[in-house]
Amino acid sequence: MCKRFVLATILAALSAALFPFASVRSETGAEAWLRYARLDEKTSREYNRLPATFVRLGNPNSILLRSAQSELLRGIQATIGRTFRIEPRISPEPALIIGTLDLFHEIDPAINPPSALVADGFWIAQIRFREQNCLIITSQSERGVLYGAFTLARKIALGESIANISEVQNPSAPIRWVDQWDNLDGSIERGYAGRSIFFESGKILASNPRIAAYARLLASVGINGCNINNVNANPHLLDEENLPQLAIVANTLRQWGVQLSISVNLSGPKTTGGLETFDPLDPKVAEWWRKKVDALYAAIPDFGGFVVKADSEGQLGPSFYGRTPADAANVIAHALKPHNGVVFYRAFVYNHHLDWRDPKNDRAKAAYENFRPLDGKFEDNVIIQIKHGPIDFQVREPVSPLLGALQNTNEAIELQVTQEYTGQQHHLCFLIPMWKEVLDFDLHSNGATSPVKDLIAGKTFHRPIGGFVAVVNVGSDENWLGHPLAMSNLYGYARLAWNPNLTAREISNEWAALTFSRDPKIRLTVTSTLLASWNTYESYTGPLGMQTLTDILGSHYGPGIESSEENGWGQWHRADAKGVGMDRTVATGTGYVGQYSPPVAKIYESLETTPDQLLLFFHHVPYHYVLHSGKTVIQHIYDSHYEGAAQADEYVRFWQTLKGEIDDERYNAALARLEYQSGHAVVWRDAICEYFFKLSGIADREGRAGHHPGRIEAESMQLDGYAPVDVTPRENASGGKAIECLSPQGCSARFVFKEVLPASRITIQYFDIREGDAKYRVFVAGKLIDEWTTNLQLPATKIGGDSSTRHHTPEIMIKKGDEIRIEGIPDKDDHAAIDYIEFSWNIQR
Ligand code: GCU
Repeated sequence: MCKRFVLATILAALSAALFPFASVRSETGAEAWLRYARLDEKTSREYNRLPATFVRLGNPNSILLRSAQSELLRGIQATIGRTFRIEPRISPEPALIIGTLDLFHEIDPAINPPSALVADGFWIAQIRFREQNCLIITSQSERGVLYGAFTLARKIALGESIANISEVQNPSAPIRWVDQWDNLDGSIERGYAGRSIFFESGKILASNPRIAAYARLLASVGINGCNINNVNANPHLLDEENLPQLAIVANTLRQWGVQLSISVNLSGPKTTGGLETFDPLDPKVAEWWRKKVDALYAAIPDFGGFVVKADSEGQLGPSFYGRTPADAANVIAHALKPHNGVVFYRAFVYNHHLDWRDPKNDRAKAAYENFRPLDGKFEDNVIIQIKHGPIDFQVREPVSPLLGALQNTNEAIELQVTQEYTGQQHHLCFLIPMWKEVLDFDLHSNGATSPVKDLIAGKTFHRPIGGFVAVVNVGSDENWLGHPLAMSNLYGYARLAWNPNLTAREISNEWAALTFSRDPKIRLTVTSTLLASWNTYESYTGPLGMQTLTDILGSHYGPGIESSEENGWGQWHRADAKGVGMDRTVATGTGYVGQYSPPVAKIYESLETTPDQLLLFFHHVPYHYVLHSGKTVIQHIYDSHYEGAAQADEYVRFWQTLKGEIDDERYNAALARLEYQSGHAVVWRDAICEYFFKLSGIADREGRAGHHPGRIEAESMQLDGYAPVDVTPRENASGGKAIECLSPQGCSARFVFKEVLPASRITIQYFDIREGDAKYRVFVAGKLIDEWTTNLQLPATKIGGDSSTRHHTPEIMIKKGDEIRIEGIPDKDDHAAIDYIEFSWNIQR
């Protein structure tokens, strides 16, 4: 029996065995993992021995300690219904006490954690204190106390035992930041969940309550910095008139221990600053940055620093004056240094006009080539921000060799929570397993063991600062990221930044319990779906290291295989009639493999030792090349797409076992996305199988690729008003064609059902264009059986792989001789286009 059926059976059995939850209140997802749901009576009783008194040591005006107190009391009250008597000072009775370690030491110098605390770390412990049994949360800093408070509240929300607790937690790295790619006009670059919460129409939304809510969420999982604007930075954000508003945002973030930072544009001194140059070595430019920075710190004394994208994708940079990234980073770093600010200089520097005809050219080599020679030349408040792979957040890439190549420079890894190349939150893709692989990967720098998690934390080369940055792009959607399951990626990112040794299963289990329920069946269903989802997405998009085979020139969403080839962007996979893959070896290819340390290079240089899942990233092979799995490359491409699409469909089934057991609002929202994903996975499957079938001319052993026996192509139906159109690229529609309606009154397509056995359901493959809400109506034998309006908000501007969507009608008996008629009414750019229809049968045919 295949794995997914085993899982479905277990879930069904659990479902029958366990009681559904009695009352399930409706939720929007806005509270994310901070719902503090009430624990059942039995579990609540476990906390009966919590002290009745609460004491906060220290400055009564400390905002961080106030946040810690309010969060802890709020969490405990909501989860177990317990309130505390709040005392201004310690009295001779058991108490829950929070405060920094120095304050505890003033009372009793013997109080010490069992192991050392580093900055932001905390100790939660049951101790004897002044002859009383007390529960304490302490840290070297107030921010650490806040993190301890969130952690204790989370432990109770998860029903974990705190009896005799003595737990020291230290973060793995000092930098645990998020980047937003928000534009001043309120749009978000690669944002998939509404408008910006920080900006609108050129103004800063300083008093938007969502900013505080976001900061609280970030703090709850230990995030300590937030960069609020797009790396493709508008230099006007630094204008003087914006400082008061930025200061208000900083005040809001500060309550939760989150430092504000912004992206700056290196050309600012010239474009908005009135200078005739932005040359980083020009003293006037240095003076300009110094004045800007001083003004900023006068308004925001704890400002975090700047993020810089330069010489990249059209952003000007130091190369304009023949200067290096070190020259550019350092001029800003000098200005920030007296204030303890830092510069995140992004290593995403590459030429997007590469000559694709030159087999030695390789975009993957760019970051290392640009930054490795500068190792040691950056100021010590510069952090090089490095994307985890050498290309750009693809569904699978090897680890960037630059992460292991900087020994005298601080570095941070850049991950992407916003699912740009991984389904844009219309598809479920839990990225923690991927990030775990990256963080655990041993780059063998300097001949020693050096997993990425140690390199970025500064442990390997004893760097003072470094860590984690993720592009998050929450938006105005109530549930922050659009898909009700997508916040698992933000939660998981932050948990890994705190402790990269947590497993993906532990993280998903925590998230599922906090976000939905501690009920074992709900946890198992959510967790198993999350854990499988990255591999599933990979298998129906770009397996074997080909990268996400999406439209890289447009939306980065639906299939667009050829868009990566024969242009300067360098995301090539070099597919031709005989084979596929980029030869990046030293021996015969681009030489990229040589950027790794010898033990790693040895693995990737050889076909035999390169893992299957990265084969085509490193090697060009014929389609009949046999993988370690025993399959040929071409058969793997076919199989993985069919298996992946079938798995995506299975998620719908899993999720349906939760009906009535979680609130309808989130249940239905997630179900709609999973159903959509299952249909779009078929679009991906068909496009890629069709493409490689045509290109290679090699048949699918299972006879599936290029053959769709039950399909009725829309262009073959009897059309009234509808007209056939060619779709480009042709593999993005079945048969390369669709039909569209240009008549405002609407059009129809008819067809007489001729099968002997009655069918039970019709599937309509149609196209949902973003601008416009077209309507569809389906009639069987003259009777209206279904109607819907297209409004999925896909990133789709034309008929093709981005817009192709499927809709299943309700179950109905369709008999031989019945006429099926589909009416479409267009709206704006949405021409109610249709690709094909299919039927389902209840009886085995
Ligand atoms: C990707 C993304 C861009 C973004 C860039 C970056 O290429 O598509 O929108 O600006 O990454 O990280 O700078």
